[in-house]
Amino acid sequence: MPQVTRRTVLTAGVAAAGVVVEPTIAVEAPATAAAKKPSLEMNVNGKVSRLGIDSRTTLLDALRDHLHLTGTKKGCDQGQCGACTVLVDAERVVSCLTLAVAAQGKRVQTIEGLAEPGGKLHPMQQAFIDQDAFQCGYCTPGQIMSAVACVAEGHAKTDEDIREYMSGNLCRCGAYPKIVAAIKQARGQMEQG
Ligand code: FES
Ligand code: FES
Repeated sequence: MPQVTRRTVLTAGVAAAGVVVEPTIAVEAPATAAAKKPSLEMNVNGKVSRLGIDSRTTLLDALRDHLHLTGTKKGCDQGQCGACTVLVDAERVVSCLTLAVAAQGKRVQTIEGLAEPGGKLHPMQQAFIDQDAFQCGYCTPGQIMSAVACVAEGHAKTDEDIREYMSGNLCRCGAYPKIVAAIKQARGQMEQG
């Protein structure tokens, strides 16, 4: 008498139920992500670079992870804190919510590109130092880039304006009064220059 095992019972049961067991189908592996990465040309701080990156890459990740410009900070990564603020064609954007491809053909400026080539600090950078407008400094690159645009937009005429138009840049250290003082200091120099 043939030996009855768990396997033979299961096989018989499957056959009786009319279940057709499909052979395993070999699925061709998808092309590697690297092969699909488009080539992207970016002008950052006046230097043009060509990057092979996924089209879903944010501008923030392109700057930090691919161009190694780590001055731009990642805070919330959700568009809420302003730590990642950079300028695109002189307008401030939160780079965590901006795709790198959207910056193609435009001029991106980060905190690394603010000082003069000889190293002289931008008036806004100098003012943040003079006014001691930071504590931990994590929000500072975003604050400075936003402040530069705030003055250029003409939105730094009064303390109230500065607070309103800088409200997208949060500082968990609460350095706000000194940030306002720094912007007022730099405003005078920027308007003269
Ligand atoms: S990291 Fe972009 S807004 Fe917070
Ligand atoms: S200086 Fe610390 S978060 Fe602004």
